[in-house]
Amino acid sequence: NTPPRLREIMDSFIRHIHAFANEVQLTSDEWLLGVEMINWAGQMSNEKRNESQLMCDVIGLETLVDDITYTAATKSVNGLTASAILGPFYRHDHPVRKNGTTISFNTPKDAKPAFMYGRVTDAVTGKPLANTSIDVWQASTNGLYEQQDPEQEDLNLRGRFITDAEGRYSYYCLRPTPYPIPEDGPAGKMLRMMDRHFYRPAHIHLYVRSEGYKPLVTQIFDKDCTYLGNDTVFAVKDELSVEFKPRTGDPEATWEVEYNITLASS
Ligand code: DHB
Ligand code: FE
Repeated sequence: NTPPRLREIMDSFIRHIHAFANEVQLTSDEWLLGVEMINWAGQMSNEKRNESQLMCDVIGLETLVDDITYTAATKSVNGLTASAILGPFYRHDHPVRKNGTTISFNTPKDAKPAFMYGRVTDAVTGKPLANTSIDVWQASTNGLYEQQDPEQEDLNLRGRFITDAEGRYSYYCLRPTPYPIPEDGPAGKMLRMMDRHFYRPAHIHLYVRSEGYKPLVTQIFDKDCTYLGNDTVFAVKDELSVEFKPRTGDPEATWEVEYNITLASS
């Protein structure tokens, strides 16, 4: 009593992997090298690092399944905020923080503090979505997320914000900077074999959830970043590129960005 969908997936997977081996005339030695790469990824992975996911990401697989899952499923909804991959550094235990507060508790000297704000609305009716939760997370200026970096306190540069009655959210963060994905595992080895670079463009992750609406996983990208056209995990979309503007009269931040989000009802 295997579910039909699971049968469909397994049948197709086996057909394609046989076709691949036939096409390249894969030898036993070559196949074993592939098996070792997969074992290596498993050994490197833990609750703070998902190396198998990283391997999928550098060949564009997570972006493809995200497009299938979200973009294709919401094609008929005009003006909907685009999705982007979750990536390997999300944590489920984000603390709720008050709108207008900061997520940066170990602000490095070279950081550019920024204020990010906007509204969440229904993509079709424009109705403000109160009580929407927005998880945000970003890397520090050294390119590391808090769980990769002993210099950052637990849950630094992460938070959960709840929209007010008008659907508004706001917080202080860092203007994001580009950084390389970890290169010490099989994903790094694959990039090297393909003569590719390791960089992701400057981005902030968002995970937006509102009762009665499809959850949105996305990222916003700094328009001015060099790697925008060349993301090593293929997550960039034009609609997700935003302009950071100079902020005046605020001792807490020198940059600001407005980002409004629309959701599709579920
Ligand atoms: C990946 C995604 C990220 O957002 C990130 O910061 C690092 C790696 C990835 O998809 O592999
Ligand atoms: Fe990231």
